[in-house]
Amino acid sequence: MANVLCIGAGYVGGPTMAVIAKNCPGHRVVVVDINAEKIAAWNSERLPIYEPGLDEVVRTARGRNLFFSADIGPNIAEADIIFVSVNTPTKTFGHGAGRAADLQYWEKTARQILENSTSSKVVVEKSTLPVRTAQAMERILNSNDRGLHFDVVSNPEFLAEGTAIQDMEQPDRVLVGARQTASGREAMQAIVDIYAEWVPRERIITANLWSSELSKLVANAFLAQRVSSINAIANLCEKTEADVAEVAHAVGTDSRIGPRFLRASVGFGGSCFKKDILNLVYLCEHYGLPEVAAYWEQVVKMNEYQGTSFVQKMVAAMFNTVAGKRIALLGAAFKANTSDTRESPALAVCRGLLEERASVVITDPYALANAQADLGEQAEQVVFEPDPYVAARDAHAIAVLTEWSHFVELDYEAIFQSMVKPAFVFDGRNILDHKKLHAIGFNVYAVGKPPLTNFTA
Ligand code: UDX
Ligand code: UDX
Repeated sequence: MANVLCIGAGYVGGPTMAVIAKNCPGHRVVVVDINAEKIAAWNSERLPIYEPGLDEVVRTARGRNLFFSADIGPNIAEADIIFVSVNTPTKTFGHGAGRAADLQYWEKTARQILENSTSSKVVVEKSTLPVRTAQAMERILNSNDRGLHFDVVSNPEFLAEGTAIQDMEQPDRVLVGARQTASGREAMQAIVDIYAEWVPRERIITANLWSSELSKLVANAFLAQRVSSINAIANLCEKTEADVAEVAHAVGTDSRIGPRFLRASVGFGGSCFKKDILNLVYLCEHYGLPEVAAYWEQVVKMNEYQGTSFVQKMVAAMFNTVAGKRIALLGAAFKANTSDTRESPALAVCRGLLEERASVVITDPYALANAQADLGEQAEQVVFEPDPYVAARDAHAIAVLTEWSHFVELDYEAIFQSMVKPAFVFDGRNILDHKKLHAIGFNVYAVGKPPLTNFTA
């Protein structure tokens, strides 16, 4: 039996440890966080994040071999294996601001581990980090004169929010990277053994430490690049009467390319894509590779363009002004099935519309509280309305910004009746039935498709 600890009870730490505890009843798993309120929520009936299937997994393991605690020091002392899953945001100050990763929480956590340790431990990098961070960690951790030895292992998370439990239960692969020394290999084996409790051994990939750290950045960069690539093509489709969904289907059926992550949209969001690509860009610049840096930076630039041009298209379609017009935004979360609004394109569109002095109403089933917090002072100018029908009433336009499936099921006939005419739909996720909406009387604008309008003149 091992004592497993996770520092950081966020979107990654919480679900990851819950699934580990569920599948490894022989291990004791504790999750700690500096935020005592968050820990209290993990111990309550109302978990701090919305994630399908999470409640059930937590209910199975909590109190049995899964514990949430705000008492960090003593739990570090007892742990054999420590996963670190604290946040690593983009630096906002000093050298590398806006690109490099801010590692201050990581370093603080390393020192906290050192301070509270009385035995040797394996420290696992779960957070996404710049390649070669493990070296800095090893230097801090092993700078003690108490005879303690720490092995740093990289085990990047590949779970996506909204499908976190499924991704953890049946991962495409698990990656574990370590130093190729005797103690490094032993530490790696300890982590492999945890996953081998439920993941087929051939899906557990082992690698050297630097390959593992870099692979996480590269996986996210490739995924984001596909979205930016199809979004770039969507813009060309809008100029040429091609339909991006047809193009994506035709292109994606080539087995070398594959069909996934080719949905054109108002842009990608989430805590990882932008941060990780900027981190990659910074690393390339740091290592004297400006052309490589510029290549990847374009993925982020394309995504920013996608958000701002969406707002411009809305304004242009609505007779070049949205000032004072009520506009209902369907969706605040950065994707469906999550309450997370970090880097959400919905909020970027909201901000753009506020600049144009529109009167914005946002509806979302789970993400309104986070949206309100993220918008800061601007939230005062926005109405947050859980009921989509109320949100759309008296609106000039509705814009779909998150691919929540229940937006597809709404009674658009009734919504149309309650709106100001001419009524507009902007489908930033291409999930609605555009022909049907057009027949109801809407003027329909989708991403990468010819608009369907009902104007007679
Ligand atoms: C985090 C990282 O941001 C990301 O780089 C990585 O890929 C996965 O882990 P996430 O779990 O989504 O992502 O972050 P967040 O929900 O913000 O959770 C981080 C938690 O760490 C927070 O609850 C925060 O309170 C906690 N924390 C932060 C600590 O416990 N100690 C610290 O020193 C700093
Ligand atoms: C991502 C990675 O997928 C995951 O492996 C990693 O561990 C963390 O970062 P996540 O950010 O949770 O996960 O969501 P993801 O499903 O990758 O979607 C990211 C964004 O891209 C969302 O805003 C989504 O709506 C958008 N997207 C995705 C598209 O616009 N089109 C697509 O075809 C796919």
